[in-house]
Amino acid sequence: MRQRMGALPLRVVGVLIAIPLALIVIGIVAFSGGSAALGAVYSVPENEMEFPHDQHVNSLAIECEFCHRAADTSRTATVPSVEQCMFCHKTVATANPNLEPLRAAWESGEPLNWIRQHRLPDHTQFRHEPHITAGFECTECHGDVGSMRQVEQVRILKMGDCVGCHKENSAPTTCSTCHS
Ligand code: HEC
Ligand code: HEC
Ligand code: HEC
Ligand code: HEC
Ligand code: HEC
Repeated sequence: MRQRMGALPLRVVGVLIAIPLALIVIGIVAFSGGSAALGAVYSVPENEMEFPHDQHVNSLAIECEFCHRAADTSRTATVPSVEQCMFCHKTVATANPNLEPLRAAWESGEPLNWIRQHRLPDHTQFRHEPHITAGFECTECHGDVGSMRQVEQVRILKMGDCVGCHKENSAPTTCSTCHS
């Protein structure tokens, strides 16, 4: 009996703490949802090695298209082969332990299996080319990749997002535009 009497006010205190906490959490979620500077919107995969975009893009000023060669011509932007990395890394940073998985892949002739983050379902049609031709920068959909050490998907890129931008830009919105 004495225990129950003690527990009740404690529970009331718990509720009193829980309500403002819940409000704070809702507030944070709502705020980040409306902010343009989003973090990853989907989980970021663990790869065999880390590829630092910031170092190659911002520090070394290598163009996106040097590595993502098909971005302006086909559905897939493509991720560079081991051979493309070795174009530089046969002679650059040859003793850097962070490059060990790359050297091992080169020696064994196996690819590095980078795990895709951006992937639309097969029933949809997306091509990079019309978007690049329309004048959009990579950052419009991928954020500031050049400043990211580990690249992460920062834009939702689901149907509502696609259609919203198409409406704003008078681009086609009939179902068959994006669904075959
Ligand atoms: C030196 C080569 C290189 C350069 C330059 C480069 N990338 Fe990448 N990029 C990669 C590699 C390798 C991956 C795969 C590794 C990963 O996902 O972390 C990748 C992955 C990506 C992805 C994620 C793909 C996915 O869905 O998994 C995006 C988006 C991307 N790059 C955009 C860019 C943009 C935009 C630029 C220019 C600002 C750029 N990259 C410059 C090599 C490069
Ligand atoms: C155009 C030349 C070039 C290409 C292509 C290139 N890199 Fe590099 N990379 C460099 C240079 C230069 C450095 C900096 C070396 C240093 O500071 O010692 C570097 C550094 C690195 C590092 C070390 C990061 C660290 O902080 O330890 C990794 C990992 C790396 N590159 C992976 C890759 C991979 C994977 C690819 C292919 C997708 C690639 N690089 C393609 C030039 C290149
Ligand atoms: C209008 C939005 C948009 C723009 C602009 C855009 N992308 Fe993408 N990107 C996407 C979407 C959507 C996907 C997923 C496509 C799929 O699954 O078929 C994607 C996928 C990728 C991938 C994943 C790997 C692959 O082979 O496709 C890379 C790399 C990439 N984009 C790089 C770039 C680069 C580099 C640029 C600038 C030259 C760029 N993107 C501009 C929307 C965009
Ligand atoms: C940042 C704005 C923007 C986003 C986001 C965007 N698009 Fe687009 N898209 C455009 C514009 C503008 C065009 C029209 C280019 C033109 O007039 O040729 C276009 C063209 C297209 C085309 C070619 C249409 C045709 O008939 O030539 C397809 C397919 C397409 N988008 C699919 C998608 C899909 C799927 C997504 C979402 C994953 C998406 N787009 C996201 C702006 C966007
Ligand atoms: C601008 C591109 C675009 C247009 C236009 C578009 N869709 Fe989509 N749709 C997508 C993309 C991208 C996805 C996959 C991502 C997602 O589930 O939102 C999708 C997914 C879907 C799905 C599957 C949802 C699920 O849960 O798997 C259905 C159903 C669908 N669309 C129907 C339609 C219909 C009907 C229309 C015409 C009124 C239409 N779409 C117009 C881009 C588009």
